[in-house]
Amino acid sequence: MIPRPLPPPTSTRSHIDPAALDDFVAASRERVNAALDECLPAATEHPAELHRALRYAVFSGGKRLRPTLAFGAAVAGGADPERAIPVAIAAELVHTCSLVLDDLPAQDDNTMRRGRPAAHVAFGSATAILAGSALLTEAFAQCIRLPDPSACVEAGTGLTDTIGYRGLIGVQIDDLAFNPSGTNLKDVSRIHLRKTASLFRFSAWGGGLAAGLSGEHLDSLAAFGSAYGLAFQVVDDLLDEDPGQCSILHVLSRREARGHIRGLLDQAARETEVFGPDGWVLAGLARRVEGLIP
Ligand code: IPE
Ligand code: IPE
Ligand code: MG
Ligand code: MG
Repeated sequence: MIPRPLPPPTSTRSHIDPAALDDFVAASRERVNAALDECLPAATEHPAELHRALRYAVFSGGKRLRPTLAFGAAVAGGADPERAIPVAIAAELVHTCSLVLDDLPAQDDNTMRRGRPAAHVAFGSATAILAGSALLTEAFAQCIRLPDPSACVEAGTGLTDTIGYRGLIGVQIDDLAFNPSGTNLKDVSRIHLRKTASLFRFSAWGGGLAAGLSGEHLDSLAAFGSAYGLAFQVVDDLLDEDPGQCSILHVLSRREARGHIRGLLDQAARETEVFGPDGWVLAGLARRVEGLIP
């Protein structure tokens, strides 16, 4: 696979060229796929069964939304998106790990993922657990590849908070034990925030960190990622034919949920204003989520 450079921003914030955004999204996917291919061991390398499982889980048609946010954040910071590659890889590896583990019989017991057998169905639970653990470990290895030593520490700490017991792993326990009766928007949002939005937050914030941003710019990217991720999860709840335990539909009507999503996306778009025209990718990506609302 020959990596293509990401296209330069040709839009302004007031006019986001849909074709330029399409190109950016396509080039981001291609670039992160090439980087993931390079980072993972060959499927033929010993222990081949583990390496085949890693590649099966990582290359199965994911949209690569989190890497695209990381690249968009680098563009917002006026930097070459290439600088965000380690963060983009880390975010996608963690996302893949979360799906492999989430599908296990002991968790959501999903037999299919992205239209084909889930990793544990294809390779067995033991290999799937080991593959998920290896993906998680490699994500941290990527964080320490950032050229600036203080960014390495910040990215590693940020990733720990995103996925550790304070983040995604901790909240999976709450998600599995969630009782929909007597719940409210605050409870559901608290779970959505840690389960889904935190990794989007890490992606946007980390892309900015890798691009050399600091202070209020990083705060804006973190807030952008949280609002975008919450909106994304609420859309997913509306699209889900069989709403899970912790769904927005336990606390809002479909009409209310649509309004809630729009409010979150407005908030996300506002967070990009501090970047002026360079915020066009992030602003455009947030606007696109609106088009997914069923
Ligand atoms: C699916 O995320 C899981 C949720 C957080 C709702 P994505 O929709 O980003 O999954 P892929 O990677 O494109 O399959
Ligand atoms: C899976 O979440 C992704 C995680 C953040 C662990 P869900 O269980 O809600 O999503 P699907 O329905 O399996 O994709
Ligand atoms: Mg789940
Ligand atoms: Mg699930």
